[in-house]
Amino acid sequence: ETGYISFDPGFANTGSCKSTITYMDGEKGILRYRGIPIEELAEHSSFVETSYLLINGELPTREQLNRTSVQLNDHSLVHEDMQNFYQNFPRASHPMGILSAMVNALRSFYPELLYTDEGFEETFLRLLSKVRTMASMAHKISRGHKVEYPRPDYTYCANFLHMMFNTPVKPYIARKELVKALNVFWILHADHEQNCSTSVVRSVGSARTNIYASLSAGVSALWGALHGGANQAVIQMLTDIHEQGVSVQDVVRRAKDKNDPFRLMGFGHRVYKTYDPRARILKKYVDEVLNRLKLQDPLLDIALELEEVALSDSYFVDYNLYPNVDFYSGILLKAMQIPTNMFTVMFAIGRLPGWIAQWQENLIDPEQRLTRPRQIYIGSNTRPYIPIDERQ
Ligand code: SDX
Repeated sequence: ETGYISFDPGFANTGSCKSTITYMDGEKGILRYRGIPIEELAEHSSFVETSYLLINGELPTREQLNRTSVQLNDHSLVHEDMQNFYQNFPRASHPMGILSAMVNALRSFYPELLYTDEGFEETFLRLLSKVRTMASMAHKISRGHKVEYPRPDYTYCANFLHMMFNTPVKPYIARKELVKALNVFWILHADHEQNCSTSVVRSVGSARTNIYASLSAGVSALWGALHGGANQAVIQMLTDIHEQGVSVQDVVRRAKDKNDPFRLMGFGHRVYKTYDPRARILKKYVDEVLNRLKLQDPLLDIALELEEVALSDSYFVDYNLYPNVDFYSGILLKAMQIPTNMFTVMFAIGRLPGWIAQWQENLIDPEQRLTRPRQIYIGSNTRPYIPIDERQ
């Protein structure tokens, strides 16, 4: 009579799944979308093309890519009534909280969710395009600025930068280096197998919840500092080092101290026990973009020193703690002038095609059932009800 139930890991559908979307090898640091290495996609592809690959399973033909771009443009506006939602959020609201609420609200404005093929494509393109517009609206309205509308002659990434930074008095022209950097940033964030937020999207979707509510739940999960919120936490950590003159050695010492809750943000990973392949690409890219734009960022020098000191320390080597996708990504976002509180929103936009592809895969997989993890019960044994006057 131990109070334990027999725990058979295979007993319930715990959300583990078979998938054809993304392959990761945590020991070798390999990441492939539909079999294509991310190194090749980062070099040759665009975020729209990679989104098409993730959702449809194949790279698009030129005709398919052109049609997708036209449809993304057609769906780039947000219902004017949605702007009222933004006006009523307190100014200091975090953009991730706004994004989660607004993605959920899309269901009210676009109730048709056709489960036929063309319906899916329409809904996915609407989400990919409108979420990007909604993110830029959150930024503009939080500053009391006029919302900037998308332009039909701009590509997906150039349009985002336009909507974020263009103003009636100071036109913004996105440098091609920054448009390419944004494509690479979003390609590298596009999917990552069954991470926390993707598992949430699949789990909520397994209840046959609509995709808007499922993605809204994914945005909320990504917000956490140990997950997508880490990119904002890394920049805060590097800024503190820079502004407070804390030595990198002290930071590494604190991260190792088990009595100190501080962790080295942007280091370590649930799956990668070697260098995160995305971090390797971002590290190279940041350097290139800063040099091309003739930008200096002391945080990059601090990050490079922090990585060198940490990776020469047995604690990090023995625990297989290496830079992850968040360690250098914030420095690239800073170069694009993205405000720090929008960093995790940038991660969420990038992860959209992966969430969509995984939600769809879960829905159409006949073997996938309602996610229902079980537990190991360690509570009280059976005991009687005690009337309130007899309780101690
Ligand atoms: C993302 O899953 C995904 O795919 C996520 C993601 C995606 O694309 O979706 O890749 C995005 O979330 C990347 C991770 C971003 N988070 C951070 O950078 C926050 C800092 N990192 C950690 O909090 C941590 O590394 C986690 C949360 C990422 C992983 O935590 P685990 O699973 O506990 O790490 P582990 O088992 O490898 O830890 C081994 C030891 C532990 O010590 P003990 O408790 O056994 O004594 O290393 C310690 C950990 O405490 N440790 C760290 C550390 N990370 C782990 N110590 C100091 N600094 C760190 N960063």
